[in-house]
Amino acid sequence: MAKGKTNIFFCQNCGYESSKWMGQCPGCREWNTFVEELVDKKTAAKSHSNQKVAEPKTLSCIDMQEKARMKSGMPELDRVLGGGIVDGSMILVGGDPGIGKSTLLLQVCKNLSAQDVDVLYISGEESLQQIKLRAERIGSFNDHLRLLCETNLADIRTVIDKQKPKVVIIDSIQTMYDEEISSAPGSVSQVRESTAMLMQIAKGMNITVFIVGHVTKEGVVAGPRVLEHMVDTVLYFEGDRYASYRILRGVKNRFGSTNEIGVFEMRGDGLQEVANPSEYMLNGKPENASGSVVACSMEGSRPILIEIQALVCHTNFGIPRRTAAGCDANRVNLLMAVLEKRLNLKMSECDAYVNIAGGIRMNEPAIDLGIVLAIVSSFKNRPLDEDTICFGEVGLSGEVRAVSMPMQRVAEAKKLGFTTCILPKVCMEAVGKVDGIQLIGVANVREAMDHVM
Ligand code: TYD
Ligand code: MG
Repeated sequence: MAKGKTNIFFCQNCGYESSKWMGQCPGCREWNTFVEELVDKKTAAKSHSNQKVAEPKTLSCIDMQEKARMKSGMPELDRVLGGGIVDGSMILVGGDPGIGKSTLLLQVCKNLSAQDVDVLYISGEESLQQIKLRAERIGSFNDHLRLLCETNLADIRTVIDKQKPKVVIIDSIQTMYDEEISSAPGSVSQVRESTAMLMQIAKGMNITVFIVGHVTKEGVVAGPRVLEHMVDTVLYFEGDRYASYRILRGVKNRFGSTNEIGVFEMRGDGLQEVANPSEYMLNGKPENASGSVVACSMEGSRPILIEIQALVCHTNFGIPRRTAAGCDANRVNLLMAVLEKRLNLKMSECDAYVNIAGGIRMNEPAIDLGIVLAIVSSFKNRPLDEDTICFGEVGLSGEVRAVSMPMQRVAEAKKLGFTTCILPKVCMEAVGKVDGIQLIGVANVREAMDHVM
């Protein structure tokens, strides 16, 4: 073994470090994920030695200048980023293969280069011809965009030094490698070193770097969780591969809030923004069907109306089956237990399938009331009035609890033509009276049920 180098085992799933091999990772409980990698102990020390020692400062003598933000030309993306792309920031875009990461970033390239920003798109996955094919679908590009097929980081650094672009896209971090590290591209130490090097470039030359990261089957950025700690912003691109819409979600953002989402639709000519997601989500809602309820969930500052579907039928086995798609299955079990106990509905004899239409995932408790009403509607086989929408959190004693921003939710419902809104009684005062929509405050699930059926 060379001097100064040590062998360390890394979990390829979460980046857990260990001096010996282990069958199961103590960090993420995955089996058989440890791989031996040679790590040069000097690298950490090396980067430290050539740093100048900085003087500590008081808060008052730090001059505040608002970091300049570029508009990406896609308002949905700008919203998720907190108002635009911050100069010199590092943005990680994760997502399943084929979801549209490369397409999104190429469109960003197109819009930025149209504003005369120099952009360098570095691909380690596709050939220049393949990128050109995609670019032709998206539209016309000008010469401010340059493309490069390269995976060696030292070469990439040389190119960046020479070209001095304002924005660099790395597609994807798992294909990049640093010659000084012996492990294979995509391994934990490679990904970590590569990101660190790109970080230096980003901060040193004030270049904005977009990094594409692959995700594992669990939905986290593949290999190292560590990556998420290093970058400024982490965005996840998600959605059903078979549905055409995609959701861009901020998971971490040093320059803005993280609960905003952007909604896109994949078309023949690239990603198109969906300005009104509620309308989109409710598309194709069945008429007069039992077990279908419209609920409202807040995604950041934006209310989104969704259709919750439930199918409740008599079970043929001793243990009833419960499945939930798009919402938490445990939450559904809990709500069914509440119905059993508080409304005396014989849920324990029923299979239940709950689904949020369109493949979107919603975890806000405010959709509880929607889930409850959908289950009751299917159980009694009685459809709800089509122009009714509901929201509210349901507690264990069957009470309907307050949720945040009721006013915005009511306004969104009204905008989409709903005429009745069932909401927590405690929120009634905050909402006041709204023309054109009837507001029904309910204190518990029984009241809600009596109102709709
Ligand atoms: P891609 O951006 O390559 O996904 P990723 O980089 O996340 O792996 O493309 C995703 C899919 O989108 C691909 O299967 C083809 C499809 N697509 C369209 O439907 N319309 C388009 O205009 C483009 C460019 C791609
Ligand atoms: Mg790609």
